[in-house]
Amino acid sequence: MRDRKLVLVMVGLPARGKTHLARKLARYLSWLGHRARVFNVGSYRRARLGPAQPASFFDPDNAEGRAARSLVAEEAIEDMLEWLAGDGVVAIYDATNTARRQRELVSSRCASADVDLVFVESICDDRSVIEDNIRGTKLMSPDYEGVEPEAAADDFRARIGHYERIYEPVADDEGSYIKLIDLGDKLVAHRIEGYLPSRLVSFLLSTHVTHCAVWLTRHGESLYNLASRIGGNPDLSTRGEGYARALAKFLPERAEQPPLVWTSTLKRAIQTARHLPWEQHQIRALDEIHAGVCEGLTYSQIERQMPDEFNARARDKLRYRYPRGESYEDVIQRLEPIIIALERRKQPVLVVGHNAVIRSLYAYFMDWPPEVCPHLDVPLHTLIELSPTAYGCEERRFALEPDF
Ligand code: SIN
Repeated sequence: MRDRKLVLVMVGLPARGKTHLARKLARYLSWLGHRARVFNVGSYRRARLGPAQPASFFDPDNAEGRAARSLVAEEAIEDMLEWLAGDGVVAIYDATNTARRQRELVSSRCASADVDLVFVESICDDRSVIEDNIRGTKLMSPDYEGVEPEAAADDFRARIGHYERIYEPVADDEGSYIKLIDLGDKLVAHRIEGYLPSRLVSFLLSTHVTHCAVWLTRHGESLYNLASRIGGNPDLSTRGEGYARALAKFLPERAEQPPLVWTSTLKRAIQTARHLPWEQHQIRALDEIHAGVCEGLTYSQIERQMPDEFNARARDKLRYRYPRGESYEDVIQRLEPIIIALERRKQPVLVVGHNAVIRSLYAYFMDWPPEVCPHLDVPLHTLIELSPTAYGCEERRFALEPDF
């Protein structure tokens, strides 16, 4: 059955993290294989009118500003519905939508296009969070390029004031909604039905702002790596054991606080983590892609003995499923609880996994489309450090020389 088309309509005063949330939702949905795209009304405004409208432009009593804003909002809705009429599946309409009549407009347009709609409202009255948001993200916006920071912050506060005058939180009779209160400390869900909206509730329940690092690494070189064989449950080679020692020297010096350590249940991953001074958890969801009837073979043997399988995999590595085994798409689905746990964590995490698994987790954090995921470069003996930022992740890679 084809997915129902869905629009997530962001709601909330400026500086409540809506754009951050919208991008995060799009990244999560795309990673799971649903075509998702953000339609940001602020970007439409800047494209149509140029950046740098002053706070007075957003004054609800400014008729000219109101008309201009309605036009760009209309344009974004048009584009969004056109995209959904094609191959788009989930559109995220990123605007303040603080007045009920603005939401009624989007609702009626979506209803005419036979598209489901869920409001995602971000509510936060914590002045320090709002100030951090203004200083951390809003002042970098093209709206304030070249403006002195204090003047920009004052203008933005005045803009918020204009929205506050007309803000009406989403009411029960407006339809389905998810309200995130204080950046996800509390969540209220109302009339949430269907597969995707329900999954979004559990995702949003887990997301909170964290700047703790995630470290990703493949296991050290294994005896099967040496023989170019795939799958199985081999031990580490001597060089692989050297990587395990190098990792145990490097990470305790690098980590500012003890990380959680998650490994797969396979020997090569457990052995890679065994010298680390922290508690370790073995998780089956982190096991390598199961190569089914090809487990233990080399790629040359697969090419010779099963040329049809070999060619099918080369044609579409994302969707190809090994006979009696898994595809990359299967791996991504089984890793979803790991993503939820990674989003929920409040401390750094080291994941010791395998090629397909580390590629899939890395693709989530770095927002690579699923088609690219099976081709990402994740070499052996390299520790990847990902540090979440307001809009994504910063990456550093450390190639560690095996320590014999
Ligand atoms: C904007 O123009 O920056 C956003 C407009 C809105 O959502 O009110």
